[in-house]
Amino acid sequence: MQVFPTIAALQGSLADARRAGFRIGLVPTMGALHSGHISLVERCGAENEVTVVSIFVNPTQFNDPRDLAVYPRTLPQDLELLRDSCCTRVFAPSVEEMYPEPDHRAFHFGALEQVMEGVRRPGHFNGVAQIVSKLFEATVPHSAYFGEKDFQQLAIIRAMVRQLQLPVRIVGCPIVREPDGLAMSSRNRLLTPEHRKSAVLISDTLLKSVTLSRVLTIEALCEWVEMRINADPLLQTEYFAIVDREELQPARFWGDPRGLQGCIAVQAGQVRLIDNIAYE
Ligand code: PAF
Repeated sequence: MQVFPTIAALQGSLADARRAGFRIGLVPTMGALHSGHISLVERCGAENEVTVVSIFVNPTQFNDPRDLAVYPRTLPQDLELLRDSCCTRVFAPSVEEMYPEPDHRAFHFGALEQVMEGVRRPGHFNGVAQIVSKLFEATVPHSAYFGEKDFQQLAIIRAMVRQLQLPVRIVGCPIVREPDGLAMSSRNRLLTPEHRKSAVLISDTLLKSVTLSRVLTIEALCEWVEMRINADPLLQTEYFAIVDREELQPARFWGDPRGLQGCIAVQAGQVRLIDNIAYE
């Protein structure tokens, strides 16, 4: 496994692989790797001869400077974890390498960014589109792998690829959960032991909501989810929305042919957690 700090060095190494006819897969991450990331790396390795994992905490997607300051940075441990995986190349650039000058590009995703995370985290998806497009330009992957935990991010990245007509296949991979159900996230390690214990209520509630979706209206189910989570004094629901799986617009009726997804953001002390679940 080789580690590249610059775009030029990465591209030099990938040019050889491309000449040899190898497929190149990219797993973009912000580090603080866990089993969820490793599942993306394994999927990438199963489908490509070359697996590039990028590790870069992207400042332009943080709308809250405190969030950027405390975001976990664990490069030595990340590299250790990747050495035991099928990752062949790590791209770990500096901020100066990725942003030699400010990126003034403004992306527009219409209705897709006017709900949920797009409303609560202004500028977040623009920053995601900026860095992911730069990573695609640096790597020119055949396929790129993203977790479905960031459900809206995945939809935004698919939209960006369509807008820019990039020849990259976007692969969404299922959420990986802790044994008690909490969706794996780099932010979980920032939870206090008390908040970690409470946080299990999020996935537990989502799971139970699937059963209740057979008897409650969409509105009543949304109220029930928020009430159940907010009953824990350590948790505060920021939003819970049931949306269609394509445009991510609030659902009006069960049985929408596009499929429905329940998406949630919860504040657990200083840590903001997101999760989602499918309704059949
Ligand atoms: O999901 C993430 O970790 C980040 O948003 C991504 C896609 C690596 C872009 O910085």
